[in-house]
Amino acid sequence: MPAPSTIHVLNGPSLNLLGTREPEVYGRATLADIERMLQAAASERGFGLVFKQTNSEGALIDMIQEAGKTGAGLILNAGAYTHTSLAVHDALRALAIPVVEVHLSNPFKREAVRHHSYVAPLALGVICGFGAKGYVMALDALAAHLKEKEKTR
Ligand code: DQA
Repeated sequence: MPAPSTIHVLNGPSLNLLGTREPEVYGRATLADIERMLQAAASERGFGLVFKQTNSEGALIDMIQEAGKTGAGLILNAGAYTHTSLAVHDALRALAIPVVEVHLSNPFKREAVRHHSYVAPLALGVICGFGAKGYVMALDALAAHLKEKEKTR
């Protein structure tokens, strides 16, 4: 049997603090809770999962490049870099695998500075405002997309 396709899930700055960081905005689930939930969901759907977090922009770009080399798809919550990073945008432009953008909160309900995304123009789609469950929704969307692509090959 061939090795399962791997989905990479990358989390940007301060998402390591989930659980205690503004729980009224981001909920009470920790990043470890989200990782556990996604590992289970990925293996149920026949995918491998790589799950990472970094507070640094350069490291996030290295991780995006790595996902492009070894992953079938990418789920990205770039945190505040979503709204600021042309470097993340450029790294995504160079990526040949599909990307789903995720946010726990709904940035469009928040300050105007969060309404612009450097990720969204390069994403298959964006899931936001559903808390930790949004990651599973993103996994479902990406898995369905990858399976569909596989069928038409
Ligand atoms: C976030 C939304 C961003 O605006 C914010 O900077 C974050 C978290 C979210 O998941 O809701 O760090 O990406």
